[in-house]
Amino acid sequence: MCLVVRMKKLIDRLERNHVLTHSEFAALIDGQSQETEADLFARARAIRQREYGTDVYIRGLIEFTSYCKNDCYYCGLRRSNAKAQRYRLTEEEILHCCAAGWKLGFRTFVLQGGEDPAFSPEDIAGIVRHIKTQFPDCAVTLSCGEHSRAVYRLWRQAGADRYLLRHETAGEAHYRKLHPPAMSLENRKQCLWNLKKLGYQVGAGFMVGSPWQRTENLADDLLFLHDLQPDMIGIGPFLPHHETPFAQEAPGTSEQTVYLLAILRLMFPAVLLPATTALGTIDPQGREKGMLAGANVVMPNLSPIAVRKKYLLYDNKACTGEEAAECLACLNRRMQTVGYHLTVSRGDSRMRHEMEENKK
Ligand code: 5AD
Ligand code: FES
Repeated sequence: MCLVVRMKKLIDRLERNHVLTHSEFAALIDGQSQETEADLFARARAIRQREYGTDVYIRGLIEFTSYCKNDCYYCGLRRSNAKAQRYRLTEEEILHCCAAGWKLGFRTFVLQGGEDPAFSPEDIAGIVRHIKTQFPDCAVTLSCGEHSRAVYRLWRQAGADRYLLRHETAGEAHYRKLHPPAMSLENRKQCLWNLKKLGYQVGAGFMVGSPWQRTENLADDLLFLHDLQPDMIGIGPFLPHHETPFAQEAPGTSEQTVYLLAILRLMFPAVLLPATTALGTIDPQGREKGMLAGANVVMPNLSPIAVRKKYLLYDNKACTGEEAAECLACLNRRMQTVGYHLTVSRGDSRMRHEMEENKK
């Protein structure tokens, strides 16, 4: 059977909500060609249109600490990077970012940071509580790494609605090549399951084109996501940072990232799928291309401009020089060029709701 026809059959099955086997996912990933892309992207766009129309949800990203106790080999904020400029925002500064964001129309705040022991669990719970009190119509998303179930429960009780924790790669051996021995894939996955059980809307995800990644690793990622059924999935190309052990490694590509976004949209019709900053960094049109392949979320930065350049996960990060309002206006223009528009809403996940409906 010709390759394009074989890919079309796999895409048909995915669209009819059939999960593929590991080797079928691998064949689909390896089968990327212009014809396959055209077919896949058109279907992903149609599903996105059916589920979300032309709406693009916005999340205000507040990078509240660049300190991290971890030492992931790919990340510019790893603790061994003595050259990284470190900062912490105070609670007052965080609330100030939220207030500025609220005025611009943000109804979700994402508090993202390294695993920074200087913020105690109670500190973070207090920040969440205060945001929820001052902005009761907003969702709070936390993204600050691996913690115990008790800590996640504390934050949930404080009012946190969502949690982002990318699994990074779902293959054991590959995970070990990207992380020091102190970290484990098992714990990472356990954190995600704990978060789910606690009632968070959960986001997982992985880097595309990270060092040593092979097709089979990406197939592992897709199968793990199928098991987890997350509400959100964040993927972006790996980009080297000059002060890390991966400084000389090749970056991932926007082509493969966008292709995987489209596969994810077919697998999870209602999932929240951001076109990430990393995608906009590797390709100036990356976020627009992401939208055209099924993405429906963007996450502009609300961090104070003075600290933006210090939160460098990778080199040449986009949008570090723009005020939130400029970035938002720029994104709005970008989205409009491809027929989409930013919306003012919390943009909650519909996944759980649908799962509950199915149970009835
Ligand atoms: N390139 C691309 N993405 C990276 N991240 C961290 N370092 C890099 C890098 N060098 C991503 C990880 C992490 C998220 C906050 O940023 O996936 O989960
Ligand atoms: Fe941030 Fe364009 S999207 S400046």
